Amino acid sequence: MAKNEVAAAHQTPINAQPRIHQRAGEIQAYGTVSHLLPLELEEPVRLEMTEQLNLLLADSMTLRDLYKKSHWQVAGPTFYQLHLLFDKHYDEQVEIVDEIAERIQLLGGVSLAMAADVAETTRIQRPPRGREEVPVQISRLLDAHQIIIGHCRQLSRRASEIGDEGTNDLVVSDVLRANELQVWFLSEHLVDAPLVHAEEPQARKAG
Ligand SMILES: [Fe+2]
Repeated sequence: MAKNEVAAAHQTPINAQPRIHQRAGEIQAYGTVSHLLPLELEEPVRLEMTEQLNLLLADSMTLRDLYKKSHWQVAGPTFYQLHLLFDKHYDEQVEIVDEIAERIQLLGGVSLAMAADVAETTRIQRPPRGREEVPVQISRLLDAHQIIIGHCRQLSRRASEIGDEGTNDLVVSDVLRANELQVWFLSEHLVDAPLVHAEEPQARKAG
């Protein structure tokens, strides 16, 4: 910097006002990946993986929100245990969502983030705004898990095939396993086991 430029910079009055309402063009478009990253993964691989991970992200964000809806709206004699279980699974899905989104960014892509974009992308059926009974809540959650688990199996195989072992590991170790475990905890609630009186062997046969 020349001497006179340094002097001019020093003369700029300090303005304490925040510069609010700013807008500018995007610095990276959705659906693209950065060209130059020292990851030893070709651009087409990163493009395919970030596209697939964004689908997994949209479904996981929807499942996360379905858990919170169920946590708030649950009713009936199992209210307390389900209220707690749904929130535990919600917290675990929050972690999963963050891991998927950050994997997309580290591969040079752009993660989906906002509810409207997630709603347009997810394959999980939209539930009604109102409250539903427990078996329906659990069935909806299980249907959502099934979509995610099916995608995890297909995506992990494909990631391995094209050399992205990091994505394979994330999908299997963090997403698939957590979803499998949550499915177990949910599905046991749909077993029609007697609560107080053991069923007579005769009645069981008839059923
Ligand atoms: Fe709560």
